[in-house]
Amino acid sequence: MSRLIVALDFPNAVAALRFIEPLNPSQCKLKVGFELFVAAGPDFVRQLVQKGFDVFLDLKFHDIPNTVAGACRSAAELGVWMINVHASGGAAMLQAARAAIQDLPHPPLLIAVTVLTSMDDQQLQGVGVNHSAEQQVSRLAQLTAECGLAGVVCSAQEAIMLKRERGHNFLLVTPGIRPVGSAIGDQSRVMTPQQAAKAGIDYIVVGRPITQATNPLAVIEAINADLN
Ligand code: C5P
Repeated sequence: MSRLIVALDFPNAVAALRFIEPLNPSQCKLKVGFELFVAAGPDFVRQLVQKGFDVFLDLKFHDIPNTVAGACRSAAELGVWMINVHASGGAAMLQAARAAIQDLPHPPLLIAVTVLTSMDDQQLQGVGVNHSAEQQVSRLAQLTAECGLAGVVCSAQEAIMLKRERGHNFLLVTPGIRPVGSAIGDQSRVMTPQQAAKAGIDYIVVGRPITQATNPLAVIEAINADLN
């Protein structure tokens, strides 16, 4: 199965379904985030699952433990492959999220967001974190591992540090990937699919270089070739 996750950043189900029409579930997984989920809802997610796609439901839950546990259970019932929560919700929240899905027959992979890549050291200080973004990522990844979650979403720059600190089995899911020659857009520090594979990243998330391409299938095939 492919290690490529395509970010379905479309405003509605019609646009997203038109895009996935020619795709085969063996070629890529699909990420549904806030924009599409708020517009298209759980029935749309079920549709993707029924078509055979592995779906990463990227809703970054962050609330009190009981509420997050319920959200994770509801997400799991959609049949998705991966879900996520914010590690900064704390140990009790992370453990409640894991406990909520662990006894299901086919639980989704549960990963955590450490520090949003939009947060730099200065922004972190503004919310009371007085060490560097890198140290905070490292600390929250450790907490995530201690709470028994499968891995984290991380930037390409953090991947090598996290593989070293957390070991091979701790999953890394990484956006900000750009094939050679494609537009960087608003991403700042990017990595190519080949570099990502070399850094030990388990799954890469790619949006616009595929969704805006004139021939998305060709880009998907090229990325899969790079990853292998
Ligand atoms: O179009 P592009 O390849 O930049 O899309 C990347 C996807 O990964 C988007 O859905 C974006 O929201 C998500 N993402 C990100 N950076 C993060 C976390 C998520 O780009 N730190």
